Amino acid sequence: MSQTITILNGPNLNLLGQREPDIYGITTLADIKDMCKSAAEKQGLNINFVQTNHEGELVDLVQQSADSVGLIINAGAYTHTSVALHDALKSLTIPIIEVHLSNIYAREPFRHHSYISPLARGIICGLGAQGYVLAIEAITAGR
Ligand code: DQA
Repeated sequence: MSQTITILNGPNLNLLGQREPDIYGITTLADIKDMCKSAAEKQGLNINFVQTNHEGELVDLVQQSADSVGLIINAGAYTHTSVALHDALKSLTIPIIEVHLSNIYAREPFRHHSYISPLARGIICGLGAQGYVLAIEAITAGR
């Protein structure tokens, strides 16, 4: 098995740092990638850290993660809408950790449903960028 953790980020997460900083903070996606890289390297693992705004590409990337040690996914708004993403995640046997920077349950009702949660080993939301690092620790602890 490849010693890589796949970390996928969905739509609009490329705008982190500029986008609604009151909700998402000022940490950029590049900063989060650096944090993830150091956390994974401490465990002797590589990361494959990708962002896309496109639902079909996210489905492709989920399929391609099948040989990773684990998958960390912040699917952004597709969390709440994408049956295609749900189906792709269902095909995986590796641990999936769902991450959101914000606490989706303290926000609008349309964010309270996730198509990812039923397939996730765990869910981390509301802890900002630190959630990604905690997700790496969760995957490596369970190895
Ligand atoms: C998000 C929460 C989603 O509801 C939203 O659409 C996002 C970001 C988060 O990280 O808090 O784009 O996934």
